[in-house]
Amino acid sequence: MKKDRSVPAIELNHVSFQYDSKAKVLDDIHFTLGQGEFLGLLGPNGSGKSTLIKIILGILQPQKGEVRLFGEPMEKFKDWSRVGYVSQKANSFNSGFPATVFEVVSTGLFGKLGLFRWLGKKEKARIHRAIDMVGLSEFSYQNIGKLSGGQQQRTFIARALVSQPDLLILDEPTVGVDSESVDRFFELIEHLHHHVGISMILVSHDISVITSKVSQVACLNKRIHFHGNPQDFSQNQEAILATAYGHDVRLIEHSH
Ligand SMILES: Nc1ncnc2c1ncn2[C@@H]1O[C@H](COP(=O)(O)OP(=O)(O)OP(=O)(O)O)[C@@H](O)[C@H]1O
Ligand SMILES: [Mg+2]
Repeated sequence: MKKDRSVPAIELNHVSFQYDSKAKVLDDIHFTLGQGEFLGLLGPNGSGKSTLIKIILGILQPQKGEVRLFGEPMEKFKDWSRVGYVSQKANSFNSGFPATVFEVVSTGLFGKLGLFRWLGKKEKARIHRAIDMVGLSEFSYQNIGKLSGGQQQRTFIARALVSQPDLLILDEPTVGVDSESVDRFFELIEHLHHHVGISMILVSHDISVITSKVSQVACLNKRIHFHGNPQDFSQNQEAILATAYGHDVRLIEHSH
């Protein structure tokens, strides 16, 4: 089926969500992300960023509102190979996990370990390409538990890329990753944004990364307090952060 680039990658229509009957975690979230856009999502701890991501991935179902991916209502969306995801704690797992980098990346194609034995030439080539993109070729057949945290994180990024997704969602993907690997990671991300045209969401607390890399900024704290381009965000940064963060402004301010 031919992919229609004109439909938005993500549409959220008045979405509200709560984990229990106590309080809303997300209140009336309404936004659209066009294909090829790169959204930086900012917000204090506990503001609902990861929850919003899980709603976009269909892991959580909102009590109110509607979510659409590539024009399809969530209930009907089936083409999950178009969506790649790196979770907030991808690299903090049991170091005895018995799988190689190649095997972990292969699960991005099939969702399950073990199936790699039946991979064809084409699939194998795709897995190697994804591993190469994150600079881990020399570690392809190493056990992932023996790699460093940053290398493990890159393995999970390769896993998210191997199906050549049209939408890539990254929830604080560089926490615990050294600055050299962070730089490489952003080179890859900028390549995917500018040259491959992937739609992306990046959750980050690093405001300089957000304003220098993305095409749109959203500031979340239960509600969307700002959604616009990085220039408008930078011009009104103090006022936006004061409303969204209240007094709890603890952002990293440094240049890359
Ligand atoms: N599984 C859960 N059950 C109940 N409450 C939850 C659950 N997960 C998160 N919450 C609550 O929902 C709110 C939003 O959490 P969420 O993880 O979306 O925040 P976040 O913006 O991603 O924060 P951080 O910057 O720390 O990652 C928090 O108050 C949190 O305690
Ligand atoms: Mg989170």
